[in-house]
Amino acid sequence: MGRPDSERAQRHTRGSTPAPADPIEGEGSGDVGDVNLVDLKRVNKIRRDFVANVSHELKTPATSLKLLAESLIDILEEDPEQARFFAEQLKNETERLANLITDLLDLARLESGEGAQNPQTVDVRAVLMVVLARLRPAARRKSISLSWKRSGSTGLYTVNGNETQLTSMFSNLVENAVKYTPPGGRVEVAARTNDDEVVVRVSDTGIGIPEKNLVRIFERFYRVDKARSKETGGTGLGLSIVRHVAENHGGRVSVESTLGEGSMFTVRLPRA
Ligand SMILES: Nc1ncnc2c1ncn2[C@@H]1O[C@H](COP(=O)(O)OP(=O)(O)OP(=O)(O)O)[C@@H](O)[C@H]1O
Ligand SMILES: [Mg+2]
Repeated sequence: MGRPDSERAQRHTRGSTPAPADPIEGEGSGDVGDVNLVDLKRVNKIRRDFVANVSHELKTPATSLKLLAESLIDILEEDPEQARFFAEQLKNETERLANLITDLLDLARLESGEGAQNPQTVDVRAVLMVVLARLRPAARRKSISLSWKRSGSTGLYTVNGNETQLTSMFSNLVENAVKYTPPGGRVEVAARTNDDEVVVRVSDTGIGIPEKNLVRIFERFYRVDKARSKETGGTGLGLSIVRHVAENHGGRVSVESTLGEGSMFTVRLPRA
């Protein structure tokens, strides 16, 4: 969960007066001006871990690309069928790499606060329509029913924010619901409003998430089942993007899940 920490660090470094020249006074306090050294150390560790994670995640597809390309060259003339197989794999791995880079760029943009400066009035209902239309083919391919439910007046669904970010947030949630639900299952997107908020719930009848993993799924690169998620092309960045977008809009996201039965993600956004 990098954002709160890295934001805190930014706020501290930016907002603080320069650290006094004298060393930290006494043991245990760790405070220099309003810069908390313990915080800074933790943030530095988070940054180091992040760079290590990114390097690792980029290295894996890059290595397979090289291997696949070499195998393809070797086999091209003598076994065209096998060559086609390698070419397909090459395409999949390239896609994975491209997705990872897009996600990383999205995250970097979110963290720099871009888009937050010029909020627009966005109709969440319209965003959801676009997301549902986009993901319908993927759901159909898996014979998953993708349904939509709305209660309350349509006029109450506006929030202040960034349409691209909101689209990316809901796409990630619905994409996950479809991805982690076995064929024949159900995914439902339900939206309602109350006095202050637009509340969107994405629920599925999928594989569910073990309780002990629930607290970690919004962390960058975190996947419950690394091997399985790799097969489906996951990078583990989707939900950290979701959390960032919700928070950038003054809202929050929460999850409830039962292993083997399904999951339900709830996003709450303050109404415009
Ligand atoms: N609806 C869901 N049902 C079951 N597990 C889920 C669901 N949504 C997320 N998860 C679990 O949480 C993990 C993190 O999700 P996240 O969207 O961040 O990454 P991902 O889907 O693996 O990759 P991507 O970066 O492509 O979205 C997933 O790997 C999966 O294990
Ligand atoms: Mg995902």
